[in-house]
Amino acid sequence: MTIGTSIQKAAEALRSDQLVAIPTETVYGLAGNALSEETVVKIFSVKNRPFFDPLIVHLGHIEQLSEFTRSVPELAYDLANTFWPGPMTLLLPKKEIIPDLVTAGNERVAVRIPQHPLTQKLLQSINFPLAAPSANPFGYISPTTAQHVADQLGSQLLYILDGGACQVGLESTIIGLENEELVIYRKGGLPVEQLRHFSDKIRIMEHSSSNPKSPGQLKSHYAPKIPLMLGDIREMYPQHKGKKIGLISFFEDFADLDIQKHFRLSPQKDMKQAAKQLFSSMRLLDNESLDVILAEVLPEKGLGRAINDRLRRAAAH
Ligand code: TXA
Ligand code: MG
Repeated sequence: MTIGTSIQKAAEALRSDQLVAIPTETVYGLAGNALSEETVVKIFSVKNRPFFDPLIVHLGHIEQLSEFTRSVPELAYDLANTFWPGPMTLLLPKKEIIPDLVTAGNERVAVRIPQHPLTQKLLQSINFPLAAPSANPFGYISPTTAQHVADQLGSQLLYILDGGACQVGLESTIIGLENEELVIYRKGGLPVEQLRHFSDKIRIMEHSSSNPKSPGQLKSHYAPKIPLMLGDIREMYPQHKGKKIGLISFFEDFADLDIQKHFRLSPQKDMKQAAKQLFSSMRLLDNESLDVILAEVLPEKGLGRAINDRLRRAAAH
């Protein structure tokens, strides 16, 4: 396995039906030719992902939408023109050319144009779209650096395209357009507040663990191996006193508590910075020998909604 910045090497590997890890602004993706069933099967197998959980298709240009999806509503083009490239995924009726394997039999395909410059160049240099789930084993924390990918999937990949640390740090917001309504299937890097003036009907689906329409809604996900408890730190602390505690807080330093290892997501109370730090903090704590991770609930607004969503799922494990 090589970690590098060669778009040519990444493109060559992809053209010969190999998988390549790619940087995006949200998280690293495990990418392969979305039009090749054989390659898509490899993605599921490397991730150990069940076939009922469909993949997002990554495009280079908005013009490609009509190649892979049919009857794109005006509202979808408005959103696409506003937020792409960026952390937004749209669910749109798929054309036949997209294998059923990619959508897990769904008649809608999830599409997005990612923002990272290396991946943009890569997408321009190949003539097929990339199916790419987050580049982590199924159910584990998503990777936000090339090293995160190498640590877990390195032995199964030829090439990891290194684009540095992901700028957003949370997966894309997944949106379905249902009549006049915007349905949010996964809260993510695009805060719902930014969608308000596109529609006055916005429905946020909370996760469900039985027969989810979008398996991104599976409750136990993004989970560290060490148990993670979510809530108010000072309320939870007394029950865990004496244990080796790891702590994830928004900005407070909790200097008076006996904590083994502490990550403040953003001492400056900056939600963007907190989002960017979240997954790597969870990973770093998971690699310490701790008994428990205590995590604080953030304000339920803006990116805080998606951060809390990821923490809740990590805690549901
Ligand atoms: O930011 C992101 O979206 C990252 C980067 C790599 O683009 N990708 C990502 O992929 O998070 P993944 O596979 O970890 O999560 C995609 C979610 C899945 O939970 C899946 O259920 C949902 O998107 N999804 C994909 N295709 C779908 C479809 N056709 N219908 C409903 N849900 C779909
Ligand atoms: Mg994922």
